[in-house]
Amino acid sequence: MLSFSAAVLGLSLLASAGAQATIDVTVGGPNGETFYSPPSVVASPGDHVIFHFNPKNHSVTQSSFNDPCSPSYGGFDSGFHPVPIGTTYGNPTFEFIVKDNSPVWVYCRQAENTAGSHCGKGMVFAINPGFPGSSNTFAAFQTKALAIGAALSASAGLSTTAAATTATSTYTASSGSPTIHVTVGGPNGETVYNPTNVVASPGDHVLFHFNPKNHSVTQSSFNDPCTNLYGGFDSGFHPVPIGQTYGNPTFEVIVKDNNPIWVHCRQAENTAGSHCGKGMVFAVNPGFPGSSNTFAAFQAKALAIGAALSSSAGLSVTTTAAYGSATPQVVTITKTVTVEADAWTTTYAPYPSKTA
Ligand SMILES: *[C@@H]1O[C@H](CO)[C@@H](O)[C@H](O)[C@H]1NC(C)=O
Ligand SMILES: *[C@@H]1O[C@H](CO)[C@@H](O)[C@H](O)[C@H]1NC(C)=O
Repeated sequence: MLSFSAAVLGLSLLASAGAQATIDVTVGGPNGETFYSPPSVVASPGDHVIFHFNPKNHSVTQSSFNDPCSPSYGGFDSGFHPVPIGTTYGNPTFEFIVKDNSPVWVYCRQAENTAGSHCGKGMVFAINPGFPGSSNTFAAFQTKALAIGAALSASAGLSTTAAATTATSTYTASSGSPTIHVTVGGPNGETVYNPTNVVASPGDHVLFHFNPKNHSVTQSSFNDPCTNLYGGFDSGFHPVPIGQTYGNPTFEVIVKDNNPIWVHCRQAENTAGSHCGKGMVFAVNPGFPGSSNTFAAFQAKALAIGAALSSSAGLSVTTTAAYGSATPQVVTITKTVTVEADAWTTTYAPYPSKTA
């Protein structure tokens, strides 16, 4: 599991990186388990993927979809980063900046080409793998890696050299469930969750980190994105001063099953300033592309609510019959739009202007 210091590090990097997202990935489980968490991410060009090395001795090495457990020519390689069991502070990191939308395939090259191969145990990772239904999904990639591992184990087992018994490092899987980090609001108060949606398994922890301004993490429903779900969770409001990057509040949701979880920020609810209405929504396990309940469909509903709230926002027109004119003349049109605590009033000039 990601240490507190690592989480703070990720947040401060996010703050300094401006619009680019920082995506944290742990390399290995807390007790040396051979997995990356999360196993795959969706990222945009310019995003920073920060790998945090957990105990044991892993690497972050680029490979290819067709050959998951071999380094790709010209690809990146973090090298090995041995970390003693129990270390949770000051763990090494490795950063990769996403260049484009193409998939990036990664493996741990520990014990490469042996029965103990971490890659062969399925320790692979991907950025922007193919969506379900395509040939290059993360699952297909990992299946290839496991097949390589099975072949290595089988050939190791056939060995007749007694001295070369396979020192398969069997780190028993622990209860360590992955923690998925999500920032609530941008570093300068932007109305976004980052990432906007995640795929999670039952037992996973989704840890929300509150960025500046005054947001919430409130469960809603697909059909009504900007309304609290009856019986759903709600973090309450967590105001954070602009510029604060340390010790920000967090809120945790533990995933119970594989059903979608729909979330919105209820700041300025039912007003033209509604954060939800600006598209500040989030989902765990939304429908895959092609289904009716995708994240995009959910966010489109939220934005439609926002558009309706804006158009109905207080528009007051004052008319007077000035200068003895028979027809009332528009003197001022005032539209007040309230966004959180701030209010702007726009006063339009009289039209037609009367100069006489
Ligand atoms: C880490 O793994 C590499 C590759 O197997 C090995 O050369 C190195 O000695 C290991 N380091 C430690 C401290 O175990
Ligand atoms: C945060 O937002 C809530 C809801 O709009 C409001 O009641 C509260 O006063 C705000 N807190 C701060 C410190 O702005």
